[in-house]
Amino acid sequence: MRGIRNILIGTMTLGLATLFTGCGDQNQREIIRISHNQAADHPTNIGLMAFEKYIEGKLGSKYDVQIFPNELLGSQVNTVELTQTGAINFTVASNAILESFDDVYQVFNLPYLFSSPEHYHAVMDNETIIEPIFKSTAKSGFEAVAWLDAGTRNFYTVNKPINSPEDLKGMKIRVQQSASNIRMMQLLGGSATPMGFGEVYTALQQGVIDGAENNELALTSNKHGEVCKYYSYDMHQMVPDIVIGNERFLSNLTPEEREIFDQGFKIISQVQREAWEDSVETAKAQAKEMNVQFLYPDVSAFKEKVLPLHQEVIEANPKLKPIYEKIQEVGKNLGGEDK
Ligand code: GCU
Repeated sequence: MRGIRNILIGTMTLGLATLFTGCGDQNQREIIRISHNQAADHPTNIGLMAFEKYIEGKLGSKYDVQIFPNELLGSQVNTVELTQTGAINFTVASNAILESFDDVYQVFNLPYLFSSPEHYHAVMDNETIIEPIFKSTAKSGFEAVAWLDAGTRNFYTVNKPINSPEDLKGMKIRVQQSASNIRMMQLLGGSATPMGFGEVYTALQQGVIDGAENNELALTSNKHGEVCKYYSYDMHQMVPDIVIGNERFLSNLTPEEREIFDQGFKIISQVQREAWEDSVETAKAQAKEMNVQFLYPDVSAFKEKVLPLHQEVIEANPKLKPIYEKIQEVGKNLGGEDK
């Protein structure tokens, strides 16, 4: 897998532009390249396959949609860059890493921003809040077109269970390549080790890190549960995945095509969400068979340590304040607890 990836990345850097801008086949269909870092059975891939089917069903004589899973085209940081330049058309990126491309995305990386999955979904589905953010990054070369559920992030470790923030002391925990996540780990007392998702399994296996944090599917779909035997529900973040598209590609679509693509983006979200709902329970059952123990620590101890990050981030980036307030308001209207 890595070999193929290196060849592809090598090809790009050699500037063989035809690979990325050339037409698909004798019929001169334009290839639409979509990258992501999950396995073929993951809800993200299932959602994207539905998009491929839909777009090719409507515009198949013009476009050939090709999905590259498993970091085949590089880690998310690389593929966001490739999407910005137009070398590829779309990528799925965790909101965590998007904040270094456009700081408006810092807001969704705040730990305990959402008080429940209902709050998270209600905010992400709220077009008044989300649309302006998704459209605001044209200057950064991309537009966000859909969000995907990535569940709740929790700590999981090789051999030391995490029951309180104190247990994280001295532990090397992989985090995504995001300043917010590094700061969050600092506040929790652990030692943050940022790296791309594809590096995590080997780093766990070789003892480079003591644990990581992610949703339950990382244990099974990414096989981290083969090495990590404790998964602690501290529920620190609900970080969405965001599908982003190259700005130029999107703005060159005709209004009719754009309408079809917009419908396609909705299909990605719907199909991914349906697949996601079952996949968490399935992953949990599979992880138990892998002898992973699920722990339910007192969440408030973790929350207390990291809540100061909300003020810190908003003071440093005041444009987030109105967005943050709207998010709180949605929570209150749902009857969630106040921060
Ligand atoms: C989740 C998320 C990915 C992300 C990964 C990570 O799996 O869906 O988009 O890359 O976490 O921790 O890097």
